[in-house]
Amino acid sequence: MKARFDNSKWFRDARFGMFIHWGLYSIPAKGEWIKSIEKISDKSYDRYFEQFDPTQFDPNFWAITAKKAGMKYAVLTAKHHDGFCLFDSKYTDYKITNTKYQKDAVREFLDAFRAQGLKVGLYYSLLDWHHEDYPAFNDPYHPMRNNPEYNNQRNFDRYLEYMYNQVKELVTDYGKIDLMWLDFSYDELRGEKWNASRLVNMIHGYQPKILLNNRLDAAADHFGGIMTDNAKVFSGDFACPELLMPPKGLKDTSGEAVPWELCASLNESWGYNAQDNNYKDADLLVKKLTEAVSKGGNLILNVGPYANGRLSNQTLSIMEKIGQWLEIYGESIYGCNDSNLEKPEWGRYTQKGNYIYAHIYERPIGPCVLLPSIDKKDIESIVMLKDGSEIKLMTEWIAANYPDYTFAEIAPSKYQDITVLKIKLK
Ligand code: GLC
Repeated sequence: MKARFDNSKWFRDARFGMFIHWGLYSIPAKGEWIKSIEKISDKSYDRYFEQFDPTQFDPNFWAITAKKAGMKYAVLTAKHHDGFCLFDSKYTDYKITNTKYQKDAVREFLDAFRAQGLKVGLYYSLLDWHHEDYPAFNDPYHPMRNNPEYNNQRNFDRYLEYMYNQVKELVTDYGKIDLMWLDFSYDELRGEKWNASRLVNMIHGYQPKILLNNRLDAAADHFGGIMTDNAKVFSGDFACPELLMPPKGLKDTSGEAVPWELCASLNESWGYNAQDNNYKDADLLVKKLTEAVSKGGNLILNVGPYANGRLSNQTLSIMEKIGQWLEIYGESIYGCNDSNLEKPEWGRYTQKGNYIYAHIYERPIGPCVLLPSIDKKDIESIVMLKDGSEIKLMTEWIAANYPDYTFAEIAPSKYQDITVLKIKLK
C-alpha cells in the first residue's frame, strides 16, 4: 500500500463500521431523497422541521449497539441533501437546536461513540436543497428543478462559502474527527467547482489525520483521482463504492491496492423507510463483510433510525447476531486483508500476516476439504478458529489420487453454517 494511504491504517484494520442516516426525512419515512423525489417545496417540507421531536433518541444506546455488533467506527449524517443540520451551526437557522429537540445531536453522537472507544465520522452533503444559493431550476436533483420560479440568480460562491464555513465548524468545534464523508459530485459539480483544494487544505490544517472519502472528486460512475498515480489533494483517502461489491477489490493505475469501503444498508433504504422491510439476514451480512475483507475492503452498514430516535427491532436483532459472530470470529476479519490466493469454491480466504482464515460456507461431501493455492509444505498448523481444536491434513488413501492438492480432514459433524479454519503458514 502506498505511503499516501498511511493514515488509513486504523480504518483498514477496523473493517466494519456503522452508517447512520437520520434527519427530518425520517418523519415522512420514505427515505432521505423524499424531498427531491416528490418535488416537495420548502414550505411544505417545513412541517417536518416543526414536528421533529426525537424523544427516544439515546446516542449511548446507539453507540452500545454499534459496539456490540462489532463495529469499530460510525458515520452520522451531520447534514444530508435536504440541508437540515444535526449540529448547532452558526451559519443557519435550519438546524436541530431550533427544533423541539434543542440539543446538538452531532455532539451527543460524538461523545457517546467516542466513549465506547469507536472512531467517529461525519457525513456532510455537498448538495443542499434548502440553501438559497444552491442551484435549483434545471439541476438534475433539486426538488424545484422543474419550477421556473427557481430560475433566479443564485450565487454559487456564496453557497461554497457557507459549505466551507460549516465544514470548518465540524472540524474545529467538535474535537478529533477521524473521518469525513463528503457526498457527492455530479455533472460539472466536481473537484475545484467545489473549491475542493481550499476546503481540503483547511480540513487538513485542523485535522491532519482525518480520512476523507473520494466524492469531492468522484461521481457515482467513477472513483476519480484516487485510482490514479497522480491523485489530487481532494481525491480522498478511500474509495466508497455504493451498493456494489467491487468484483476484485480496487487497485490504482500502477496496480497498488486502494483502501475502500462498501456502503450498504440493512434493508434497501438509507433514511428510515416505513415501507421497506426487506432486511438482509445476519448470516448474509457476515458473508458480505468477509467478502469485502477478502478483497481488501471495509463494509459500512447503514441503519436508518426512526424519527423518534429508536432503532427498529429488526435492526437490533440483526446487529446482535452479527456481533455474536464477530465475538467468536472477529480475529478473521479485523486487521485482515486480501490473501491473494485463488478464491475457494466453498467460501473465502482472508489473511493476516502468516495466518490464512478459511471461511467455509459449503461443507464438502466427505471428510476432506480442499485448500486451494496452499502448499502442504507451507502449512505449520491448522485449527478450528472457534475452539482452537487441531485439524490435520488428510493423508489417507482418499486423497491419494490428488498428490498435488492440499486437503484438511474435518469430521462432517464439526461443520457449522460458517466454519472458520485458522491456517498458520511457516
Ligand atoms: C448517495 C445518496 C445518499 C446516501 C449515500 C450513501 O450518494 O445520495 O442519499 O447518503 O449515497 O452512500
